Amino acid sequence: MTSSSNRVVIFDTTLRDGEQSPGCSMNLEEKLRVAQVLEEMRVDVIEAGFPIASNGDFEAVREVAKVIRTSRVAGLARAARRDIDRAWEALQGAARPRLHTFLSTSPLHMKYKLQMEPEQVHEAVVDSVSYARRLCDDVEWSPEDGSRTEHDFLCRCVESAIKAGAGTINIPDTVGYAVPEEFAALIAMLMNRVPNIDKAVISVHCHNDLGLAVANSLAAVRAGARQVECTINGIGERAGNASLEEIVMALRTRQDAMPYTSGIKTELITKASRLVSTITGFQVQPNKAIVGANAFAHEAGIHQDGVLKNAQTYEIMTPESVGLNRSTLVMGKHSGRHAFREKLKELGFELGDNMLQEAFRRFKELADKKKDVYDEDIIALVDDEVGRSKDHIRFVSLQVVCGSKGPQTADLELEIDGTVKLAHATGDGPVDATFNCIKKLVPHTARLQLFQVQAVTGGTDAQAEVTVRLEEEGKTVNGQGADTDTLVASCRAYVHALNKLLIKREKTEPAALSA
Ligand code: KIV
Ligand code: ZN
Repeated sequence: MTSSSNRVVIFDTTLRDGEQSPGCSMNLEEKLRVAQVLEEMRVDVIEAGFPIASNGDFEAVREVAKVIRTSRVAGLARAARRDIDRAWEALQGAARPRLHTFLSTSPLHMKYKLQMEPEQVHEAVVDSVSYARRLCDDVEWSPEDGSRTEHDFLCRCVESAIKAGAGTINIPDTVGYAVPEEFAALIAMLMNRVPNIDKAVISVHCHNDLGLAVANSLAAVRAGARQVECTINGIGERAGNASLEEIVMALRTRQDAMPYTSGIKTELITKASRLVSTITGFQVQPNKAIVGANAFAHEAGIHQDGVLKNAQTYEIMTPESVGLNRSTLVMGKHSGRHAFREKLKELGFELGDNMLQEAFRRFKELADKKKDVYDEDIIALVDDEVGRSKDHIRFVSLQVVCGSKGPQTADLELEIDGTVKLAHATGDGPVDATFNCIKKLVPHTARLQLFQVQAVTGGTDAQAEVTVRLEEEGKTVNGQGADTDTLVASCRAYVHALNKLLIKREKTEPAALSA
């Protein structure tokens, strides 16, 4: 695809740059779930990881490459043959593999980070791209810190990378320093000065340190870029990357100003956003464009009145266009298994028999407690079940004494490797007492890094969705739990995180934790 086309290639790096942000780690099963939704959304390229970085990253790229058939799957590599070989090995099962290699080109990075002279950097660019190209037909090259690179040197490296076989040249604004006019001018400068630029697709990769990642990316598209690198919910290093949903919806909504198209099925945006925030524990701020809880809410009476008369008075896009269907009362305590299965299908879940049975049991329990059961309730409940089949520890029951007259106490039953065990503990409040019970039953030294509670829907009978982040020896895991009882949800979330930690440990140690 050349830049004369108006089609913008969407390159999603949620699983690589997104996952690089502290606390955002995803396990293999979670990465596969995200990759599948990205493919369903028709993302053109899914960057699945940085295979040399760790065995976990390697495995994730390899498994994503095996299951993704229509999107391209990219693996990242530094400009070293060992890195490129590792990335290529991980991509072996891919239907449409892409090798993405990068090297810093700015004076600051060359001098202090690489400690290399420009000539050596240029040589390494030619060597790495030609080497990658001998392995793979689809090679992307990125000059890291491209926006702070001296223009003559950038042009020279880009020209050489294209000559060496790169089909995509990605210009990163690595530190989120650029402003839109300047970044657009940089892209225009490359389009004008690099003689073989028509042989490659120009891509951009913008970070959001000044809150300009989306504006810079769109300015670059107007200047000739035809690939945008972005992430779901804008997650990524530091302040994050350009957000996929904002780029795609800006292109869709402002065709008059930006006559470019993406191939994205925008109706899946909400689903992808919820999945990523549930898995990572990175909640989306309520006023975030496109996917924030308030993005389509009209509070002021005068606005509500306008929307009722004609939605376009205050809505520039429809909630349905991003897959936000007005919450409907879907199911009740009389709904049967068949209706439940149909509902799950409608929400995009295909569960195996065991998981379906467990989810249905939990749904019945919920319908008994909660007057109205909404789609969001069912999504939270299924998120709480998916991927739990290998868990060593299972929640059984919790009894808590709390209130202003202490002490707060908890009695907890957990099933650990098939045996039900009971603990009693006190604490500074009911959550602390509950977590102390877990520590008695499953002794561990992991530190609690995040404890976050969110109501799934409105009303005092709403389910609480809790995220717990644990850290042990530099490894972080996120656990989720949902229940109408906030303490039960908290306990489930902690147990989920602990199970993930045990699985991580099992990969490095033979024996698992047990009380
Ligand atoms: O921000 C950056 O420069 C990157 C590159 C590896 C593309 O993430
Ligand atoms: Zn980046």
